[in-house]
Amino acid sequence: MRRHVFLLLSLGTFAAAMTVPGTPAAAAEQPYFAAQRAGDRPPMGWNSWNKFACDINEQRVRDAADTLVTSGMRDAGYQYVNVDDCWAEQNRTADGKLEANHTKFPSGIKALADYMHERGLKLGIYTSAGTLTCQKTMPGGLDHEEVDAQTFADWGVDYLKYDNCNNEGRPAIERYTKMGDAIKKTGRPMIYALCEWGENKPWLWGRESGAQLWRTTGDISDSWGSMTGILDQQVGLEKYAGPGGWNDPDMLEVGNGGMTDAEYRSHFALWALLNAPLLAGNDLSTMSAATKSTLENKDIIALDQDWAGAQGHKIRDDGDTEVWAKPMSDGSTAMVLFNRSDVATTISAKATEVGVQASKSYRVRDLWSGAETESAGSLNVWVPRHGSAVYRVWPARFPNAAPLTTFALQAPEYATTSKPFTAALRLTNSGSTPLAAGLVKLGVPAGWKADGRPEAIVPIVLPGKSWERAWTVKPVSPNGDHVTVTASAEYWTAWGQRKLTADNSALIVKAPSPGVNPLSKAPFLSSENGWGPVERGMSNGETEAGDGKPITIGGVTYDDGLGVHATSKIRFYVGGGCTSFSSFVGHDDEQPVGSVAFQVLGDGKELAKTDVLKAGQPAQHLTAALTGVQVLDLILTDGGDGSTSDHADWADATITC
Ligand code: GLA
Repeated sequence: MRRHVFLLLSLGTFAAAMTVPGTPAAAAEQPYFAAQRAGDRPPMGWNSWNKFACDINEQRVRDAADTLVTSGMRDAGYQYVNVDDCWAEQNRTADGKLEANHTKFPSGIKALADYMHERGLKLGIYTSAGTLTCQKTMPGGLDHEEVDAQTFADWGVDYLKYDNCNNEGRPAIERYTKMGDAIKKTGRPMIYALCEWGENKPWLWGRESGAQLWRTTGDISDSWGSMTGILDQQVGLEKYAGPGGWNDPDMLEVGNGGMTDAEYRSHFALWALLNAPLLAGNDLSTMSAATKSTLENKDIIALDQDWAGAQGHKIRDDGDTEVWAKPMSDGSTAMVLFNRSDVATTISAKATEVGVQASKSYRVRDLWSGAETESAGSLNVWVPRHGSAVYRVWPARFPNAAPLTTFALQAPEYATTSKPFTAALRLTNSGSTPLAAGLVKLGVPAGWKADGRPEAIVPIVLPGKSWERAWTVKPVSPNGDHVTVTASAEYWTAWGQRKLTADNSALIVKAPSPGVNPLSKAPFLSSENGWGPVERGMSNGETEAGDGKPITIGGVTYDDGLGVHATSKIRFYVGGGCTSFSSFVGHDDEQPVGSVAFQVLGDGKELAKTDVLKAGQPAQHLTAALTGVQVLDLILTDGGDGSTSDHADWADATITC
């Protein structure tokens, strides 16, 4: 053992004496000859809509600006403070101008713009390329483009979001170009952000209309289903983006409460990789430390703001796991290894596969932890459920850091209080130098016991190799609704000692009772839903739990069932002892438009499905045999046309056991 440590330490001294290849981690500076103009990089800032909707006033907007300054967000790059819908009086003034709502913005918009400018910030405003805005609380800009653009310029506005509601069916390109021309005519530099929802492929004509941004989809909501659904619609759009014109997958939901911190980190990293505008949409005054550190992660912001502006794209899609990559202006590659599955898993990619120049060695920076390691070419990472590893990778001439090491702690998604489960640890060395003299420990909670000693010695893990060991964890006197296992590893490298930790959690489940079980009363293993939570016994109301209406499909009302919004997935533990599933499924009548498709999976295999069902169509009776099935998944997709208005129900959903 000692001998290995000695050898490793000697190698470290040798490596440290050589010059360091690669370039600094921070984004390379824009070349001095390229003067920066508005829109050269994706704008960053805050927008009132996602958190406050119409509940806005000048104090709230000023508070947001103050917090941008005090929280350090302004200095991290967040510059625009954007007021969304509902800021103006319902009617124009006698001379045809917009004016700020007297109650909500008594000091007027010019004063608000001054407030921003005094603090090194900029002001954004909103209207619609229609007769009214979406909330119908104020006039839209259609046929008033010149007067409105000039009013905004006179007030000192720096950014206009131009929505698509109440557009009278008039051609989009014409409507949006008119406002683009009007803004140009004012002579004031303003970011012009089209909010056309991707209906007429604005990535093809957005730039010519004068815009620097174009929304590519319908509205985001604060849910995993919505965020991933929007992500999927970005595939293939990367070729249309670049300095001066950006695809906009909508504003950030980070910190709004509907996703986990791991999900928000994925959202933020993927939006940065997509060169999306980074417009925070949370209440800045109450944000958690986790939200703040996500939004202020400078290494990830640097991906978004890289001066070359090459939008990242999906390199590989393995179903539940995805690899996304973005070429950076300094020759490095940024990558997001994204785990969409319900359990933590290992994701692997080759440096050359994501576009890093082939080399003997690679410098790897983990953009969440800041840790720098070395890889011989493989990037193996252990990624939590719905989480993502974000790496920036540079070619290097020789190893100059401790090896990239993955510490995986595998545990099942669920456990019962009557059976043991397996927890497995794996230490993988993806570097070019060994790791040695390791000590690994497994921790199990009170009420559970691991077989054998919880510690294990790892003499050496050579480059490209793994060490692994599994423990059987038995219930002794279990309690609580989870069993969380933890692990730590300490080992030596040529660059000193390293410590890693890992944890994983299994939900404690119980088999359903014999007989007919309504699923509205059954616990969920997990649930995902496009807007608001999955509702029990009512339709989907889009926001809070319990805000739905009676379930109604094709004119028929049902007393029971599950109300969902595309895209949605509900997982149930059914324990292998049930025989059948039954439900009447369809689009809920509360939305006059929308289209959805239902799918039932047993242990990941399709058991039943519908074709696309549209608003107003009668319910379809969906049944499936469940013999031997452990986990049932109820899935709702958007019918292939985006998830707008997709309210749907699993009416009278039951399992017979
Ligand atoms: C539309 C937009 C949203 C928001 C609302 C305001 O739905 O797409 O981003 O601006 O209008 O009403």
